[in-house]
Amino acid sequence: MQELTVHKIHSLRGTLTVPGDKSVSQRAVMLGALAQGTTRIFHFLECDDCAHAMGAFRNMGVSLRLFHEADETILEIAGKGLWGLSHPREPLYLGNSGTTARLLTGILAAQPFSSVVHGDASLSTRPMKRILDPLRRMGAGIAAREQAAQEFLPFQISRASLRGISYETPVPSAQVKSCVLLAGMYASGTTRVREPLKTRDHTERMLKMFGADIRARGRRITIQGGRQLQSPENLIVPGDISSAAFFIVAALLVPGSDVTISGVGINPTRTGILNVLRRMGAHIRVRRRYGDELAEPTADIRVAYSRLSSITVDAVDVAYCIDELPILCVAASQADGTTVIRGAGELRVKETDRIHAMVTNLRALGVQIDNRDNDIVICGPRRLNGAVVSSFGDHRTAMCMAVAGLIAQEPVTISGWPCVAKSFPDFSERLLRLTG
Ligand code: S3P
Repeated sequence: MQELTVHKIHSLRGTLTVPGDKSVSQRAVMLGALAQGTTRIFHFLECDDCAHAMGAFRNMGVSLRLFHEADETILEIAGKGLWGLSHPREPLYLGNSGTTARLLTGILAAQPFSSVVHGDASLSTRPMKRILDPLRRMGAGIAAREQAAQEFLPFQISRASLRGISYETPVPSAQVKSCVLLAGMYASGTTRVREPLKTRDHTERMLKMFGADIRARGRRITIQGGRQLQSPENLIVPGDISSAAFFIVAALLVPGSDVTISGVGINPTRTGILNVLRRMGAHIRVRRRYGDELAEPTADIRVAYSRLSSITVDAVDVAYCIDELPILCVAASQADGTTVIRGAGELRVKETDRIHAMVTNLRALGVQIDNRDNDIVICGPRRLNGAVVSSFGDHRTAMCMAVAGLIAQEPVTISGWPCVAKSFPDFSERLLRLTG
């Protein structure tokens, strides 16, 4: 199915789970492979990005077994220890996965063997200087494709020994922070990272769980190099709040809806979308779950149809809901008044230019949406008309437009639908189950 057509529905009701968190699943593959001992990862996200992360480690001699047990996806990794990876049998192809590319490069830069990393056309246009600058300061030898003073994949990574540095990340990016911390595990001495705004802290939490010598205080993180990682044996991945966000907004916008999403990760660095939607008037109840063996907090989230009002979203909000800004645009199209999202420039360097994608697609549905530099301005509420729109090859753009289709007067067809396999292969099936 190359395209998906979505029709207006009357209500969304019921309970669902969402697949495992993408950020957490990818980090679990990496730390599981580098730890001593076997790690079993429960509720692992089976998707294209994770398959590329797994493929890269298989290529370096790590044994990973994916299986299903009682409706649950489990990944078992036989860890090789910090220095146990072997020279890749072939260039490491990472598809469309920015997280794998940036985090894995931090690991590869410290190995006693050379490697080549490449990705698909979209990943090859995403900015990489942001990780190459700190890694080179640590002593890494990485040659990248250069164009217009920027650097991109593919990389030729030479063998190197790294030294610890103190680094202030110029953009709030969890991928950059994580890349430097993972390189810091191998570096001599101490590696310090300071962020301009706090970003998702899954790497710090998981490193701690695997026994790394890491300390985090607010926006400052310190890691000592040379400490072996020990597998915690079992690790549970929470449901991905970024995937849940599509159902949360869908339930808010479709009259008569009442939806509960169970087992969703509510790490405070990821819950910006809940805070922003509540400020818009959303009825969202979060019931914390206790007792699971988790490094990450989880909750059941209940959402009911709500009248929304407009909001101004600032840089701090943006950092806490960077991946949810596209679906927030859909919510804003139905809110009373003018919503302004400020400083959303990072959206331009995601899987596609998400500002351009959302402005183009929502305008096609009749929304009054503009962008001024990196700000997005949306005037609501607007009745949506039908249209044929594009995913722009971006999973989140595709799912946003499916949510918009649920309330549009005529059908919305999304071309390039298969890209949702990047994070949420069975999104449409789970959505359909809520329509009764
Ligand atoms: C991610 C960090 C964010 C986010 C991406 C996943 C991660 O990217 O947009 O989807 O797993 O660390 P940036 O670090 O580029 O902001």
